[in-house]
Amino acid sequence: MEPVAHLIKVSIPNYLAGLPIPDSIGGWFRLGIRDWASLIPPTALLAGLGYMSYKAFCPLARGPPCGRVNLTIKKDVNKVVDSVDIEDITDKAVFCRCWRSENWPYCDGSHGRHNQDTNDNVGPLVVTKKKD
Ligand code: FES
Repeated sequence: MEPVAHLIKVSIPNYLAGLPIPDSIGGWFRLGIRDWASLIPPTALLAGLGYMSYKAFCPLARGPPCGRVNLTIKKDVNKVVDSVDIEDITDKAVFCRCWRSENWPYCDGSHGRHNQDTNDNVGPLVVTKKKD
């Protein structure tokens, strides 16, 4: 435990005290190349910690949960089930398979944007009625 205590109580404070952080805004403009180079590691560490915190605590940064395809459609029910009577289809019906349509269960073309955003290749199911 002593090495950890030494690191926290002595090494890190000494390292931070040795950083060329100016006392004024004008001091930043007087820093030399070596000063700027010595600020890169702690800046990268802070940026990395900030990014990891952002990813960990900001829901928008996490994106949709892994494996979930339905992000918005009928989220208040346990299972989305739709039925269409084949007799109601006059000529053809185009059904969404990407789960992004605003006109569920029918395709509204939203798969195009989904494919563009995710580099996916999903498209609708087209049901055509046989002509007698
Ligand atoms: S909108 Fe979903 S497949 Fe077209």
